[in-house]
Amino acid sequence: MSVKDLVLEELENNKGSYVSGGQLSKTLSVSRNSIWKAIKSLEKDGYSIDAIPNRGYCLSSDSEILSAQSIAKYCNHSLTIEVYETITSTNTVLKEKAGEGAEHGTVLVAKEQTSGRGRMGKEFYSPSQTGIYLSILLRPQFPASQSLFLTTAAAVATARAIEDISSQKAQIKWVNDIYIGSKKVCGILTEAAFNIETNQLDYAIVGIGVNLLKPSHFPSSIQDIATAVFDVPPEDPNYQSIFVANLLNYFMEYYEHFESKEYLQEYIDRSMLIGKSIFVIRNNKSIPATALAINADCHLQVRYEDGTEEWLSSGEVSTKLSTES
Ligand code: BTN
Repeated sequence: MSVKDLVLEELENNKGSYVSGGQLSKTLSVSRNSIWKAIKSLEKDGYSIDAIPNRGYCLSSDSEILSAQSIAKYCNHSLTIEVYETITSTNTVLKEKAGEGAEHGTVLVAKEQTSGRGRMGKEFYSPSQTGIYLSILLRPQFPASQSLFLTTAAAVATARAIEDISSQKAQIKWVNDIYIGSKKVCGILTEAAFNIETNQLDYAIVGIGVNLLKPSHFPSSIQDIATAVFDVPPEDPNYQSIFVANLLNYFMEYYEHFESKEYLQEYIDRSMLIGKSIFVIRNNKSIPATALAINADCHLQVRYEDGTEEWLSSGEVSTKLSTES
């Protein structure tokens, strides 16, 4: 970690209180001049730091910059977190890093994506200031067949994290979307590399994109089907860091006891499709059906209009209210 990162970590851990330059220099074993330089550089990045002679430095409690340090403060798992102002796609960049040997538990968080990707090769709208886009690198020890449950666990973790910071009820639309009311607030894209020799996953990347704040406008293609957790920013300036940390805490907790599938019942309970009229999308056709149940394999049971039933293991479905997938 650079001196700047270490200083930020100390200031974050003492947010709202003063820490003297001498104390920082002693704790971090660097010169006071290096501390001063780090403070100046943080100010340049937009951090609001009060400096009072003989008292030291204080990171203002309204300072709302999302950083690895501000997330780590609320995170109770040992993760390698990197925060980007802007990135092409956290999944794409993390894939490259995974190929170069990045370790299990590497997390990329971005405030904007210029080439955000969704399922089925679709684009994922990822504007700056309003969304959180993150990807978690995992090196699973379980069979590849279990990887669908990474999305399941991530959906429950995200739904919980949304409810922790807001008064919104978050529901899950099989298999990878989170909804508030009848609109989508989050999408999840899980990608993996399979090792044919070990018959296991080399790595898996769980990518989660959440509209936290309503942007000034959604593009016309999604304006009727997309929403955000908040219309206006909440009072707590740390809400983004708290949200990301809570999401990671829930997800890593599930991951650590992955095979017990403790998230599965909650996934089923949060499902917004059961009992509803839906369309199964196949070969560009929308086939009307009713969603009946989700089983322990996370497959969706549907009944078509001719009375036949089918268990779907993957694919796209849409609600009758909208035609998105
Ligand atoms: C979908 O709705 O089809 C899935 C969207 C997944 C978006 C997230 S944002 C973080 C990560 N990086 C990406 O490019 N995509 C995922």
